[in-house]
Amino acid sequence: MGERFRDQVVMITGAAGGFGSAAARQFAAEGAKLLLSDRSAEALDGLVREFGGGDRVFATALDVTDEDCVANHVAEGAKTLGGLDVAINNAGIGHDLAPLQKLTGDTFDRMMAVNAKGVFLCMKAQIPVMLEAGSGAILNVASAAGLVGAGHLSAYAASKHAVVGLTKAAADEVARKGIRVNALCPSFAVTPLFDEIADALAGRRGESRETAYSRITGRVPMGRVASPEEVVQAMLWITHPDNSFMTGQAVAVDGGLTAV
Ligand code: NAI
Repeated sequence: MGERFRDQVVMITGAAGGFGSAAARQFAAEGAKLLLSDRSAEALDGLVREFGGGDRVFATALDVTDEDCVANHVAEGAKTLGGLDVAINNAGIGHDLAPLQKLTGDTFDRMMAVNAKGVFLCMKAQIPVMLEAGSGAILNVASAAGLVGAGHLSAYAASKHAVVGLTKAAADEVARKGIRVNALCPSFAVTPLFDEIADALAGRRGESRETAYSRITGRVPMGRVASPEEVVQAMLWITHPDNSFMTGQAVAVDGGLTAV
């Protein structure tokens, strides 16, 4: 067990998913106390059981689009665990691959509600707690689709570009108050969300999941997708207090995808 986040309170949304659960495990292994949430109560319970409950984990099943639930979770969690040092705003959803003209307005609204407004509501609750302490690090999980266009994922890409914009504006507002705000832009990593995208691609083209996987990895200069643990290494580095001069950045962890 490491010491890099010894007794720091780390909030993670979408904690029961691929990146979220990997982040919870790695921050806990570095000594952090965990403030966890996910809309799936069952999956969240399973994760909390892994940590044996106790007074180092505070978990709430909630939807990040519900302003009151998010505000209560942050207030109660910070009170119970003793503050809020790091926030990983990670909850997010994708949509079926389709050209823009085939997407519905409801799909667009849902992407913006969960991926963009969810991050906005989390930061709205987190920033006052961090301002009171005079320190903190927020990391919003955007996507490579928050940096470049992603054909057939236009509503998702719009919501992730919004996350990058929110990140930069918030970073500017709190930069002189000891709080850093950055965004993480992964490309493809093997998680349930990625499996959904690969299956959708396979279904659309009438090919196997394996063929869809190779089509995706073929676009990545490193020739492979990431593991969730590799993406979490960037979360640990970006949010660690030693990384003290980085704020307002959208950091690509993408095997080179957006570099070419
Ligand atoms: P995942 O589907 O494994 O996990 C997402 C988690 O968020 C799930 O546990 C889900 O229950 C939760 N969630 C969804 N909507 C919610 C809501 N309204 N309120 C609260 N919780 C909610 O997905 P994954 O891959 O771990 O994605 C995490 C983040 O990383 C997302 O924001 C995603 O857009 C982003 N991302 C993922 C990439 C990948 O290849 N896996 C690539 C780039 C970005």
